[in-house]
Parts: sequence; structure tokens; C-alpha cells
Amino acid sequence: MSEFNPQDVVVVFVLGGPGAGKGTHCARLVRDFDFVHLSAGDLLRAEQNRPGSQYGQMIAEYIKDGKIVPMEVTIALLRNAIEQSLKDRADSTATGWGNGKGRFLIDGFPRKMDQAVKFEEDVVPAQFVLFLECTEELMLERLLRRGEHSGRADDNIESIKKRFRTFVETSMPVVDEFRTKNKVVSVDSMADIDTVYDNIRKEFVQKLQ
Ligand code: C5P
Ligand code: MG
Repeated sequence: MSEFNPQDVVVVFVLGGPGAGKGTHCARLVRDFDFVHLSAGDLLRAEQNRPGSQYGQMIAEYIKDGKIVPMEVTIALLRNAIEQSLKDRADSTATGWGNGKGRFLIDGFPRKMDQAVKFEEDVVPAQFVLFLECTEELMLERLLRRGEHSGRADDNIESIKKRFRTFVETSMPVVDEFRTKNKVVSVDSMADIDTVYDNIRKEFVQKLQ
């Protein structure tokens, strides 16, 4: 049995290629729906930089090569972050919170089938998946622009090409699997930010009611 009941701990997986807009739209969803935003990539980067981490070097290498970090590490980071938020907000009166309840956007996870299966079995099954659709051409443009100031080791053309490849070969099968279960809400993420977000918001209003 999973650690949490999906009625209490609502999880939405936010997926899409690198540069599809996951982080941008999660920030707006946090503002409008009281979610806690957990970015798997951000959690991995924080662990990489944590003094004394036994995984730092490994994470750095995986990220630079655009490869998927072994799921044990990422799932442990997510599980800890969920437990911490539930503790911190145990007395919250916000919608969806309090008394062990909470709502989470898990951004950039699961990126590989084994992570999806293990997380849903052990931690909590997701309520649905938000999938942001975008062409590689536009994602490349966005990532190169972001790379001018992001300081990220993987926002360069060599790493980006590897990340696109991992996305197509390893991460898209996860989305396809959730599609067969009718759990995917797809939104076109190529228009301007406000237009895309407006469509996302409407979907969330429906799904969370
Ligand atoms: O989502 P983001 O672009 O921040 O992820 C950066 C990198 O972190 C990925 O390219 C991958 O190397 C690693 N990652 C991972 N498993 C995840 C999410 C991210 O290995 N579920
Ligand atoms: Mg991100």
C-alpha cells in the first residue's frame, strides 16, 4: 500500500520536454490553487550542492549528460519534501491543506517508467498528469535564451540535445502509459505564457472541484 491516501495527498505530475514551461506554469498554479511545487530537477540540484552529499558527484554527471538519475535518489528527495510540507502545514486552513492533507505539483517527474511505478506504489498515486506540448524547435530557443543567465550546467547545446533524446526515448513512454489510463491533460504550450496558463487554469478548476 502507498504511504499516503490520494484523497488526502493530491499529486499532479507536470510533464513536458525541457523548456516546455513546467516551472513557469507551476509557479502560477501555486499562486492560484495553494499547491506546493516540487521540481525534481531543483531537488536534485540542491542535493548536488549540499555539503557532504554522497550523491553530489553522481547527480552532476547525470545532469550534464541529460540522463535520468537512479530513481531511489529522486524518490527519496520527493518523499522527504512531501513529508516536510505536510508537517509544516499541518495547521493550515488553506484549501486542500491541514490534518495530513496537502496538494503537490511534482514537476519533471516521473521521467522514466520505473520511477512512475515505484512512486505510485510506495508514496501516492497521482490524480492526473499535466502534459505541456511544445516543439523541439521552440524548446531549444527557450533553453538557449534561459542559458544566457540560468547558470545551469545543462543549458548548452550539447546537453540540450542529449536531454531531448532522453525525453523522446525514456520520458514520452511514461506519458503514453498514463494516456492509456486516461490520466493525461494535454495543453498546447507554444502560445504566449498568459494564453497557455489560462487553458491550464481552466483544466485545474475542473479537475480540482
Ligand atoms: O527538470 P529539469 O530540466 O530541471 O531536470 C534537469 C535534469 O535533472 C534532467 O535532465 C535529469 O538529468 C535530472 N532529472 C532526473 N530525474 C527526474 C528529473 C530530473 O534525473 N525525474
Ligand atoms: Mg524546471
